[in-house]
Amino acid sequence: MAKVRSVFRCSECGTAVPKWVGRCPGCEEWNTLIEELDAEVRGPSASLLLGPRDAPTPISDVDVANWQARSTGIPELDRVLGGGLVPGSVTLIGGEPGIGKSTLLLQAMSSIADDGVTVLYISAEESKQQVRLRAERLGTLQPTLWLASETSLPHILDDIDEITPTVVIVDSIQSVHHPDISSAPGSVAQVRECAARLVAVAKSRDLAIVLVGHVTKEGGLAGPRVLEHVVDTVLAFEGDRHHALRLLRAAKHRFGATDQLGLFEMTEDGLIGVPDPSRLFLADRRKGVSGSVVVPTMEGHRPLLVELQALVTRSPLASPRRSSQGVDSGRLSLLLAVLSERAGFSFAEADVYALAVGGVKVIEPAADLGLALALASALAGQPLPADLAVCGEVGLGGELRQVSHCDRRLAEAARLGFTRAIVPRLAPEPPDGISTIRVGTLAEAIEAIGIRPDQRSAKQSESQSGSRPGSRSELRFEARSDSRSNQRPTRDRRTSARQAPEDEPF
Ligand code: TYD
Ligand code: MG
Repeated sequence: MAKVRSVFRCSECGTAVPKWVGRCPGCEEWNTLIEELDAEVRGPSASLLLGPRDAPTPISDVDVANWQARSTGIPELDRVLGGGLVPGSVTLIGGEPGIGKSTLLLQAMSSIADDGVTVLYISAEESKQQVRLRAERLGTLQPTLWLASETSLPHILDDIDEITPTVVIVDSIQSVHHPDISSAPGSVAQVRECAARLVAVAKSRDLAIVLVGHVTKEGGLAGPRVLEHVVDTVLAFEGDRHHALRLLRAAKHRFGATDQLGLFEMTEDGLIGVPDPSRLFLADRRKGVSGSVVVPTMEGHRPLLVELQALVTRSPLASPRRSSQGVDSGRLSLLLAVLSERAGFSFAEADVYALAVGGVKVIEPAADLGLALALASALAGQPLPADLAVCGEVGLGGELRQVSHCDRRLAEAARLGFTRAIVPRLAPEPPDGISTIRVGTLAEAIEAIGIRPDQRSAKQSESQSGSRPGSRSELRFEARSDSRSNQRPTRDRRTSARQAPEDEPF
C-alpha cells in the first residue's frame, strides 16, 4: 500500500482528507483544500519548526550584539535594507523574470564573500556553471562563495549543515520542492512548507537567508500570501525590461523604514547604482516640444525629476483610445474629464497617449497637475517653458491641492536648473534658486503658462450661435481635415478658418 505522506486540509474549517477534492466535505466551501505534510511524516522537522524553548527575558537584557545589519557592499541595496542583511532574518526579493534579481544577489554575495564571510548560493534554476560564468563576467569570483544547484529542500538543509554559511541565497523559492509533498514546485503547499522550514533554520542559526520570488502577471508575488507574512523583509525589484533603469523598494521591512528607494542601471558589467537619477531621466529631453512637462516626484524620501509626455491625435475610432505607460490609466481618465468639464479642453474625438519617460512609474497624485498641463499643451500644440517644473494634485472640481515634501521637490528641481515652478496656492515658500507661480485651479494654471484660450472662446461662441456644441479638439481636427480636403461641410470650414491658429500641428 502506498504510504500516505501528505493530507489536504481545508483552509476554512481545517477538515483533512487524504485526496484533493474540489469541495471541502466539512464546510462545503469550494477550492479551499491545500496540501500539507501529514503530522506523522513531519518527524524531526516538526520539532525543528517548534524550536527550543525561548525563556522570557527583561527587554533591557535582550542581547542585540549579533543582530547588527551586515552591509551587502552595494550602497543602493543597503539603503533599502536600512544598512544591510540582519542575521537570523529572511528577505524575499520579488521581480519579473530577467529584471536582474540573480545578478543583484550574485554581486551582493560576491561583495560579502570578499570580506571572507562564507556565503552559500543555492541556484535552483541555473546550473553552477552558468552562475560561475556570470560571476566571471562580473569579475567577482570569490573562494568563500559556495554554489549548489539544488531544488530539493532536504538537500538544501544538508548543504547548510555542511557549509555553515553566514548568508544563504535560495534562487528561487518557487523552484524548490519538498519530496514528501506531491504538489508541483511553486504550488501553495510547496512554497508554504519550504519557506516555513527555511525561516525556522534562519532563526535557529542566526543565518541571513534571501529568497528570490517570482511575480505573477498582475505583479504580485507568486505563491501564497503567507510567504510575505513569514519573511521579515519583502523587496520588490522593478523596472521596464526595455530600459536600463531598475528600482528596488521595500514593501515590508521589520528592521527599518519601507520608504527608501534603490536605483540601479543594468549595464554590461552588471548592476551599478544610480546616485543622480533625475539627471539620468532628463538626459534625453528635447526642449520646446508640446506635451512635455517635468514633474518632481517623491519616491519614498528621494525626490526624482521625471518627464511626463502627452500626445493627442485625431481618432478614427468611435470610442477614442487612451493609452498610458508609467502613469495610472484611471488618473489619466480623471484628468481628461476634469480638463473637459473645468477648463474647456475636450478630448472627445482624440486619441490620447501619456507616458512617463525612462521606464519609471509615476502614480502619485502630486503629478496630476503636470500630466494635466502636458495634455493641455499637447492638445493646443503649445510647448511649456523649458525651465518650468510642475507639482500639485488636481481635485474633481478642478481645484489644486497641496502635495507632501513640496520644498524637497522644488529643491531638486532647482538643483537641476529649473527656475520656475507652478504650485498650489498654499504651498510653502520655495528654496533658493526657484520661484513659484501660485495657482488655485487647473484653469488658472493653464492661463498662467499662456496656453491660448482662443479655442475655448470659440467653443463658447459656437454654442452661443446655436450650432452643435463644438469642442476644442473637434475644431482642431476640422481644421486639419479642411486643409487636406474640401469634403467638409461649410459650417465646419468656416469655423476652422476663423478659429484655427496658424501653427496648427495637425
Ligand atoms: P537576471 O539576473 O538573470 O534576472 P532574473 O534573475 O531577475 O531573472 O538578469 C537577466 C538579464 O540581465 C539578462 O537579460 C541579461 C542582463 N544582464 C546584463 O545586461 N548585464 C549583466 O552583466 C548581466 C549579468 C545580466
Ligand atoms: Mg534569476
